[in-house]
Amino acid sequence: MSADPFKDLVSHCKEYGFIFQSSEIYDGLSGVYDYGSYGIELKNNIKSYWWKAMVQNHENIVGLDSAIMMHPEIWKASGHVDAFNDPLVDSKVSNKRYRADVLIEEALEKIMGKAEKEIEKARKRFGDDFVEEQYRRDNTRVAEYIQKHDEINQRFVDAMSKNDMVGLKAVIEELEIADPVSGSKEWTDVRQFNLMFHTQLGNIAGEEGKLYLRPETAQGIFVNFLNVQKTTRQKLPFGIAQIGKAFRNEIIARQFIFRMREFEQMEMQFFVQPGSEMKWYAYWKEARMNWHKALGTPESKLRFHDHENLAHYANAAVDVQFEFPFGFKELEGIHSRTDFDLKSHQELSGKKLQYFDPETNENYVPYVVETSIGVDRMFLAVLTNAYTEEEVPDAEGKESTRIVLKFPPALAPVKCAILPLLKNNDALTGTAREIFDDLKFNFLCQYDEKDAIGRRYRRQDAIGTPYCVTVDHQTLEDQTVTIRERDSLKQDRIPISKIREVVEAGISFRSLFQ
Ligand code: GAP
Repeated sequence: MSADPFKDLVSHCKEYGFIFQSSEIYDGLSGVYDYGSYGIELKNNIKSYWWKAMVQNHENIVGLDSAIMMHPEIWKASGHVDAFNDPLVDSKVSNKRYRADVLIEEALEKIMGKAEKEIEKARKRFGDDFVEEQYRRDNTRVAEYIQKHDEINQRFVDAMSKNDMVGLKAVIEELEIADPVSGSKEWTDVRQFNLMFHTQLGNIAGEEGKLYLRPETAQGIFVNFLNVQKTTRQKLPFGIAQIGKAFRNEIIARQFIFRMREFEQMEMQFFVQPGSEMKWYAYWKEARMNWHKALGTPESKLRFHDHENLAHYANAAVDVQFEFPFGFKELEGIHSRTDFDLKSHQELSGKKLQYFDPETNENYVPYVVETSIGVDRMFLAVLTNAYTEEEVPDAEGKESTRIVLKFPPALAPVKCAILPLLKNNDALTGTAREIFDDLKFNFLCQYDEKDAIGRRYRRQDAIGTPYCVTVDHQTLEDQTVTIRERDSLKQDRIPISKIREVVEAGISFRSLFQ
């Protein structure tokens, strides 16, 4: 493993056809990526896992595929025209552009990091006698770090919630934040930057023809709320799920596919009776965390992080954070969005967006609890968990180590490789082809006859194929093959007629839900 495991992961993605930089031959387009042949399979499987968990497993959640381009008034009603901004600041020396809130958050994390370091040292020193609460309170240095962090953080949260750009600049100065590139502390004023991309409709010039590329899929769900409710005869509580592209002109797109300008979201709006939203908020928090854990993600790599600075539409919000190679970051958001969106659309469009409740005989605008996860971020989380460099027991030379992607089998791009032991043996290749031609109707298989068997295994390990079937001389005698399991490297001999059953049992989504 190199000194930079994240770099290794990014290189692996390119080398093995998972992800390419968009427009690479023109030196790339920043913050935009293309998914290669194995990438698209993994991405589709992640979407399928989400769709099955949300729509297939819930009688009261239905799907939708709304258009990317929508009436521009939608973005006024949703608040995105006025409030979908990030605070921007430039270094006067390097001219590099940064998100002021990210710079501040990172500086605050560093202060807390110092306190945590002291606490860890003391824990080791005092062993079983260590009482963390007391140490946090009584150790002067730790108490000072925590106090400094809390005071500045409060000023930061206040400035963010009041859109106070002067206040944010003051926090940057107070924290003595330096430009990571030049080391300079000379900053421009902080100003708001709207993240929506826009384009022009037909031949209508100016503001009137201005169209936005959606920055979230959720609004397509809100404006179709009654269409879907009536056509599917759903009663509250019920949800609408959607997967689709979203676009944000991020000030700095970075960390590979973590922050992109064109990305994909999987969002679900759950419409509930006003007053019951906190119950459903708690339900979806737990349900979504379980969805992540079912993939075998270690619990230590997942955590909740409550929002201190609530978005304009929310009365409660939490992130599911995952420990990416660059630290714990948001993977998914769960938001209690109140009736903000439906009410705003009702007011601006003049069309009623109300639900008639047959139980109470009342019309009202429902409240909404939303779950929203980026497909690309989930892709990165799955890859991070899967990427393993390890020794192979009883192997020699180049074959003694391997890079293996230990995906949950249901998500693996290719499910089964069919490998004739020798290339120049018609009986072996013919039988292997027959097996491939039969299995291909059930799941994605690969036929590979090139190179020594060990190298072929390594190629399949590198793309995360859970099963390799080898056709050898014994196959021709007794119609059995060896089947190699990717993670344990265990090889079993089974009849050809059993391959499908074994693979299907291993790759089924059912096992994830159980
Ligand atoms: N409808 C609510 C909403 O869009 P969000 O927290 O802004 O909320 C939801 O975004 C999820 O979308 C995030 O948790 C993240 O997984 C993904 N996401 C947001 N911005 C992204 C970006 N620039 N690149 C990749 N994924 C992004």
